[in-house]
Amino acid sequence: MKHLIIDEAKCIGCGLCKQVCIRDNIEIVDGKAVDIESNCFDCGQCSTLCPTNAITIKAYDNDNEEIEDYNPDSIPVSYDDMLQFYKQRRTCRWFKDEKISQETFDKLMKGAYYSPNRQNIQDVEFVVVDEKMPEFIDHIYSIISAKEDEFFRIKQVGEYLRDENHDPKRHPLLWEGQQLLLAFSENKTDAVIAMTRIELLAYSLGLGGFHSLFIGMADEVDNKELMKFFPEIDSAKHMYAAFVIGIPRVKYRRTRPHKEIKLHYM
Ligand SMILES: Cc1cc2nc3c(=O)[nH]c(=O)nc-3n(C[C@H](O)[C@H](O)[C@H](O)COP(=O)(O)O)c2cc1C
Repeated sequence: MKHLIIDEAKCIGCGLCKQVCIRDNIEIVDGKAVDIESNCFDCGQCSTLCPTNAITIKAYDNDNEEIEDYNPDSIPVSYDDMLQFYKQRRTCRWFKDEKISQETFDKLMKGAYYSPNRQNIQDVEFVVVDEKMPEFIDHIYSIISAKEDEFFRIKQVGEYLRDENHDPKRHPLLWEGQQLLLAFSENKTDAVIAMTRIELLAYSLGLGGFHSLFIGMADEVDNKELMKFFPEIDSAKHMYAAFVIGIPRVKYRRTRPHKEIKLHYM
């Protein structure tokens, strides 16, 4: 099956598409690019490099509004700006009572939409836990309590949940967080890349949050049990990232040092 629509009138037969195709799906025949129905995975290298915009990927034929020409010689963010952005990002656990809207979550999904992923599979999907937070936390605790002798924080969660007078602003898993963004995929790297981009986009919108080790641990302890909470998600997937997200009520004023990053050359 052909995956590409190649506009013969536009094609100048330069062969760049053939050169960059890692599935050997294009041949130049009589000076024109031809989809030879090899093993195209719709990665779009051919269509995004084509100097005359002669190639359309059939699978995305209805998404043409997503195709945007840009100046390839102009990188939209400088190294200094990007680094400053990274420097200023902080883990935030202290939030206003105000919730993040669905419209804003839609904006954040663009971080995942434009993420790289294995074999262009695009299987990362997300859940916002909001109203179901109490049940979700109970479910998480029922799974990670198997590790409470190893981690004082998990034991503390059990004590907190049993204490009827607990401080709602001092939740040992959520702190002041009321909303949680979870990423599911069959591949950890895909999920973590997507979530990290969402985290940075969130920061660009004045939002904040923290990745949660202990919520994430539920997947490692018992993925099958965890996935029972998400009947709408393919149970072959794992919850590979959990990000507590909110509107910060604190303002960070300065950067902080970190341990030097080891870089090995071999
Ligand atoms: C994978 C991962 C898991 C984390 N787990 C938790 C957590 O369970 N609870 C929490 O309050 N912070 C958690 N954090 C936040 C770290 O404590 C925080 O990133 C670290 O202290 C460095 O601070 P910074 O993010 O402001 O640079 C986690 C961060 C990562 C990357």
